[in-house]
Amino acid sequence: MTAVRTLLAFSACVVAVYGALPKAQPVLQLPSYVGKGCSRNDPNINECVIRVGAPAIKKVTQGDPKYRIPKLDPLVVDEIKVQQGTRQVGLSLSCKKCLLHGLQNTKFIRAKVDWDKRTCDWFLTLDKMRINGKYNVSGQVLLLPIVGNGDMEMELRDLKFEYKYDWYYEKKDNGLVYVVIDNSTFPFDVNFMTISLENLFNGDKLLGGNMNTFLNENWREILKDLRPALSKSLAALTKSILQNMANVVPYDVMFPEKYPL
Ligand SMILES: *[C@@H]1O[C@H](CO)[C@@H](O)[C@H](O)[C@H]1NC(C)=O
Ligand SMILES: *[C@@H]1O[C@H](CO)[C@@H](O)[C@H](O)[C@H]1NC(C)=O
Repeated sequence: MTAVRTLLAFSACVVAVYGALPKAQPVLQLPSYVGKGCSRNDPNINECVIRVGAPAIKKVTQGDPKYRIPKLDPLVVDEIKVQQGTRQVGLSLSCKKCLLHGLQNTKFIRAKVDWDKRTCDWFLTLDKMRINGKYNVSGQVLLLPIVGNGDMEMELRDLKFEYKYDWYYEKKDNGLVYVVIDNSTFPFDVNFMTISLENLFNGDKLLGGNMNTFLNENWREILKDLRPALSKSLAALTKSILQNMANVVPYDVMFPEKYPL
């Protein structure tokens, strides 16, 4: 589940081709907002990645069609699902085409690059993420059958992300080497979460209010269900951003041996 739809639309985009290359493999420079990038021989590569990456986040989340990066704030997530317990005692909540707001404020805190092992680890934080959209819920909670559909809003606060990946090198038909990203994972932690479901029990304010209070008191359980799906879509998203860029910017341009003068 949770494929990131907007990215599919963009994968159909055609990127400009420089020079007459076999198989029309595009060759682009790094986007201007990452400056000179980072040299693969920089002894302080971790610091360089932060220096270059931190200010780029805002730009990247605004989207960059040249590198096939769609607008990421808000991000459309195909489906978010919470499945608690069984249908008799528990609930099943789904939100289709939910919007995830706030990624542009992500802060890049620390990076750990290991060239020998070809692994990379990023540490990021985000003060607040908001998810909203139309929900459906059914099940049984507090001895009450719960049914409803309407507007949903979740707010996640104090998020800590880690984005980890491996990479390998691949020589393309144009004779140039490109980076291929593998094994992306995106574990994260949330310090607090609120949830609000409008129009529960056909709009009964008292029952709906009690149920929302109950859900908020049990946000940790709800988050537990939410986590794998969110983690998976954030990993897929980040990977596709990097991979889309790595598909058009050769390794020697992305991480040059020496900094250009
Ligand atoms: C809610 O359920 C109905 C009927 O199963 C379905 O048509 C609709 O798409 C669902 N909406 C959401 C937001 O999940
Ligand atoms: C991805 O993970 C698998 C399993 O751990 C490993 O064999 C593979 O080498 C990894 N990929 C890269 C590029 O390191």
